[in-house]
Amino acid sequence: MCGIIATVGRASAVPVLLDGLKRLEYRGYDSAGLAIVTDQGLALHRRVGRVRELSSGVPADLQSTVGIAHTRWATHGKVTEANAHPHLDGGSRIALVHNGIIENMGALKARLEADGVVFRSETDTEVLVHLVSRYYHSEDEAVTAGDPVAAVRAALRAVRGTWGIAVLFADRPDVLVAARNGSPLVVGLADGQSYLASDPHALVPYTRRVVFLEDGEMALIDANGVQTFQQDGGRIDSAVETLEEVWGDEDAGGFPHLMLKEIHEQPEALERCLSGRVIPETGTAHLGGMDLNPRDMARLSRVSLLGCGTAYFACQVGARLIEDLARVPAKAEIASEFRHRNPVVDPEALFLAVSQSGETADTLGAVREIQLKGGNVVGVVNVVGSSIARACGRGVYIHSGPEMAVASTKAFSNMVAALSVFTLMLARQRTLSAHQGVVYAEQLRAVPGLVKRYLADPGPIDELVKWVTDSRMVLFLGRGISAPVASEGALKLMEVAYVPCIAYPAGEMKHGPIALLEPGSPVIVVAPRDDVCDKTLSNLQECRARGARVAVIHTEGDDIGELADLSIPVPATGPFFSPLLTVLPLQLLAYRTGLVLGRDIDRPRNLAKSVTVE
Ligand code: AGP
Repeated sequence: MCGIIATVGRASAVPVLLDGLKRLEYRGYDSAGLAIVTDQGLALHRRVGRVRELSSGVPADLQSTVGIAHTRWATHGKVTEANAHPHLDGGSRIALVHNGIIENMGALKARLEADGVVFRSETDTEVLVHLVSRYYHSEDEAVTAGDPVAAVRAALRAVRGTWGIAVLFADRPDVLVAARNGSPLVVGLADGQSYLASDPHALVPYTRRVVFLEDGEMALIDANGVQTFQQDGGRIDSAVETLEEVWGDEDAGGFPHLMLKEIHEQPEALERCLSGRVIPETGTAHLGGMDLNPRDMARLSRVSLLGCGTAYFACQVGARLIEDLARVPAKAEIASEFRHRNPVVDPEALFLAVSQSGETADTLGAVREIQLKGGNVVGVVNVVGSSIARACGRGVYIHSGPEMAVASTKAFSNMVAALSVFTLMLARQRTLSAHQGVVYAEQLRAVPGLVKRYLADPGPIDELVKWVTDSRMVLFLGRGISAPVASEGALKLMEVAYVPCIAYPAGEMKHGPIALLEPGSPVIVVAPRDDVCDKTLSNLQECRARGARVAVIHTEGDDIGELADLSIPVPATGPFFSPLLTVLPLQLLAYRTGLVLGRDIDRPRNLAKSVTVE
C-alpha cells in the first residue's frame, strides 16, 4: 500500500528517494512521485505505473539535498498522474505526501474552495497541503506563519482520519516535517543525513538507528537529527532504537518469482519458528515473549484470534487447535469487523492479533479497541518492531523471514505453526497429559522435513491447473481444521490468478453452493486423515454425483484418491497439524495457474502487501 521515503542532509536526495521507492515497491502501488527543493524552487515528478518509469523521467543532473517521495495505492480518486503524490499547494511552495485517509475531506474542500483555493486532484490529501499552506503563508495566522511545525500542527487540528505525512517547504530546504496518526512512520538517523520512511525496510541501506513515531506525534527533521513533539503541544524525548532484524533486498534468489521462492522457503521458515520453542522431551512448548505464567493460563476464560485475509484463516486454524487441544473456548474474528460492532471485551480472555506485516490498519484498530476496553492482547506477528508488535508490547514473532510477494504463503504456515506452539504450551498447562504432549511435540518437530519432502515432488498440480484456468468458478471444500485451508486455497487462486472461487465448509455445500455444480465443474476437496474425513468424503461423492470433476488433497497412503478424478497426496502428520501440509498444493496451484494465465504473480492487480488503510 502507500509508501513514504524522505531525506534531508548532505547527500544528493534523488538517488536516495528513488532507491527508497524501489524498496517500498513490494507493498503494492499504482503510481509514484517525488518532490525536491532546487535552486528554482520545488521540482515535482510523478508517474502512473512503476518506479522505474518515474526514474526514467527524472533528469540525472537534478541537484537537491532534500526531498519527499511516495508510492500511491489509490483510495480517493482514480489512478492518474494528477492524483499521484506529492501534492503541492497553490503557489507550489509546499509539497506533501500522505498515507491514510482524511475522513472530513468533503467539508474541508468545500470551505477551501469557497475561499478561492483551486484543487488539482481528486485526492483527500490535497486538502491537507492547502491547509498547511494557509497556516504557513497567511499574514492573518501570526502564530503559525513561517513556522513549519506550527503550520502543520494547525492544519492537522482541522482534519479527521488517519495519516502518516511528510511535508517539504521550498523556503526551508534544511528541514522536513512529519506527523503520524494511524499510519506508521520511522525516522532514520545517520551522520549528517536523516531519513523518514513508512517502512524501516526502506532505510536499511542507510542506517539502523531509528526513532519510531507514535500516533499523535510530529517530528522536525534536519541533517543533524530529529526533534519530536506531541501533535497538541510540547517536546518529547523519543528513544533512538537499533533495527535488529534487518531484511535484505527483494530478490527472487534464482526462482522466477518471489512467491515461488517463498513457498520453497517454508521448511526452513518453519524450522526457525519451531526450534527452541517446542520441547519434545517434555511434550511442552515455551514462548517467552508471551509473558504468560501458568496461573494466567489456567485462568483464561477464552481466546479470541483476530486477523484479516490469510491471517484470518490462520486464526481459524488456531481457534480449532486451541479449543480442541487446550480445551479453552476459542474463536477467530475478522479484525476489520471487530471494533465496529462495539465488542464486549472480557478481561479474563486472551486476544491474539495475528499479522504478517504488523501494519494492517484493521488489525491495529482491533488491538487499540481491546486495549481501550481493558483487554489483554498479544501479537502474533512477522515484522519485528512493526506497529502491531509495538502496540501489543508482548507476543510471538512467527519468524517466517521477509515475505515480499503480495500473496502470503510462508507467513500463513508460520502463523499456523506459532499458534500450534502456543496451543501446545497452553494445553500442557491445562488438560493435556505429558504422554500426549510428547506425541504432539514430535509431530510438530517433524513438519518442516515433511514440507520439504512434499515440495520436492508435489504431484499432479499441473493437471489441476488445466482444470481451473478456463473455469468460471472453482469450489473449495474442507471440514473441521481443513475448512480454513480450503478458504486459504480459494483466496490464493483468486488473488494470484484472478479465477473466481468460493470456499465452503464441506457440510454446508448441500445447503446452497451445490446449485452451482454442473458437469465438469472443478471442485477441490481438502480431506486429510482425521475424524471428519469420512464425512467430507460423503460430500465429495455428492459433487461427483452431479458431474463435477473432483480433486482431493489427502494423506498419502490413504486410498481416498480412488474416489476422486484427481488425487494429490501429502505426507502424513498428526490430524492437528495437517493444514501445514494440505495448504502446500493449493499454494502451488495458485502460483502455476497465475503463471499459465500470464498474471503479475508477485504484484497482483489492485492488491497491496501491507494494507494500512481501513
Ligand atoms: C494474503 O495473500 C493477502 N495478500 C492478504 O489477505 C493478507 O493476508 C491480509 O491483508 C493481512 O495482512 P497481514 O498478515 O500483514 O496483517
